[in-house]
Amino acid sequence: METRILGNTGLKVSRIGIGMAALGRPGYINLGHAEDLCRDHHPDAMEKHSHTVLDTAWERGIRYFDAARSYGKGEKFLGNWIRKRRISRGEIAVGSKWGYAYTAEWKIEAEHHEIKEHSEGMFRKQYEESLANLGDYLNVYQIHSATEESGVLDNKEVLSALIEKKQNGLYIGLSLSGERQVYTLEKALNIRFDGVQLFDTVQVTWNILENSTTELLKEAKKLGLGVIVKEAMANGRLSEKNQDADFSDKKTILAEMAGILDSTMDALAIAAVLHQDWADVVLSGAATPSHLISNLNALDLNISDMEEELKQFRETPSQYWKKRSALRWN
Ligand SMILES: NC(=O)c1ccc[n+]([C@@H]2O[C@H](COP(=O)([O-])OP(=O)(O)OC[C@H]3O[C@@H](n4cnc5c(N)ncnc54)[C@H](OP(=O)(O)O)[C@@H]3O)[C@@H](O)[C@H]2O)c1
Repeated sequence: METRILGNTGLKVSRIGIGMAALGRPGYINLGHAEDLCRDHHPDAMEKHSHTVLDTAWERGIRYFDAARSYGKGEKFLGNWIRKRRISRGEIAVGSKWGYAYTAEWKIEAEHHEIKEHSEGMFRKQYEESLANLGDYLNVYQIHSATEESGVLDNKEVLSALIEKKQNGLYIGLSLSGERQVYTLEKALNIRFDGVQLFDTVQVTWNILENSTTELLKEAKKLGLGVIVKEAMANGRLSEKNQDADFSDKKTILAEMAGILDSTMDALAIAAVLHQDWADVVLSGAATPSHLISNLNALDLNISDMEEELKQFRETPSQYWKKRSALRWN
């Protein structure tokens, strides 16, 4: 698989990466999540299942793996798998996230699945927890869903704690979320210390529905940040599983366009992100080996002639994030 160097980090990454959001906990918002886990939520069964997906990923050339403290046992499953496969540190790139605590107690139905706290105390506590799971395989540590509301980019204690870890060799990143991703990224790009960018990477929601950050991501790329894209399939909305009546016409068009390429909607959606030169890594959120293999077909698609046509799928950030927040945990 094509590889890239992730910004100025020197980390070698594959153009498609895989995330643990749907593999590390019984409940998640992706469409059809429960079915994919065959409704067997015993931790051992879920770890075994996640390892089959990770084995498929490794065999197909994936070398960037994304986790978070809030993905239940996602970090633990990933750490165990890396050690079980005796993968050497230089062969793999691993990112994780701090800032959300997992609070669903291994249930699907929970009042709160995750609780956000962007404080220095949370950072230091979760960093130790991530180290316990991933050890020195942990390359990039990202603020999870930094927003203006969380105030984390104005929090001097947090910023100096991040600088301290960066000076000890940890790459520092942030993930964005919500309809104001652009403003949060703009603020983050202006945070420097001793003239050096604080953030080495940015993880952003970008897909054919929500691509309001395009121009600023080109800027981030020029400034040397590594760019990781999440929600390339809009949490499954860009797949045949999407039964939303409001989307049915567009779904038909997307299926037809995929048919012209003799491919599938998921591969076309991911190919549209791979087509962006500023995108270093596009994360697959697949929760089954067959979905992952289908996603990887995106690498063989050339969507240049469809760029204009794909613009018809664009939603406003408020439309997109409103739809996303209505997705049910399952
Ligand atoms: N705030 C943050 O920092 C944040 C937020 C979201 C995600 N992320 C990261 O991004 C990663 C990607 O996750 P995502 O949720 O954003 O993924 P996504 O690509 O937007 O959505 C993945 C969904 O698409 C479905 N899918 C994939 N391939 C399919 C296929 N061939 N046919 C039908 N359905 C298919 C998956 O279903 P199945 O479950 O059936 O495979 C899953 O429901 C996460 O694991 C996480 O690491 C970070």
